[in-house]
Amino acid sequence: MFNNIFRRNAFAIPALSGLILLSSFLLNRHTELEESIKRGKQVYITNCISCHMEDGTGMQGTFPPLAQSDYLMADTHRAIKLIKEGIDGEMTVNGVTYYGFMPAQDLDEKQIADVMNYIRNSWGNKGEMVKAEDVKAALK
Ligand code: HEC
Repeated sequence: MFNNIFRRNAFAIPALSGLILLSSFLLNRHTELEESIKRGKQVYITNCISCHMEDGTGMQGTFPPLAQSDYLMADTHRAIKLIKEGIDGEMTVNGVTYYGFMPAQDLDEKQIADVMNYIRNSWGNKGEMVKAEDVKAALK
């Protein structure tokens, strides 16, 4: 009897602590993303809103949308690079071709990660968290 309880607990304790560790890890990741999105919104308001608009819909034919943009969501590295370096030329976003010019944005790695998290998690978009290290790697 005693032996039996001991054996069960011997399994339950590591299993339980594993579960607690996992859930605190997941919760932590969640709040980390939320915090980044909050900062990213401020970066967006200061740097992007004048062209891509508050609701991320841009201006058809001139400024491409970020809201539900296939171009943005398809390639994180490409989006990071164009935010930092600007872009000039032809691109097709949600079936519409743009021949526009976006000026380079004077933002650091953390600000780019934050604004990426904001635009990739707003207006119906849903994306994995982007970290400053990812931005650094993409800009290498
Ligand atoms: C002066 C206007 C302007 C500003 C400011 C601007 N953009 Fe853009 N953006 C553009 C234009 C124009 C294009 C399309 C360029 C082309 O046609 O080659 C574009 C393209 C993009 C794209 C890729 C296409 C898409 O819709 O998915 C992303 C992502 C993007 N911008 C994000 C941003 C972010 C983030 C900021 C702020 C940090 C920003 N832009 C600031 C004008 C602007």
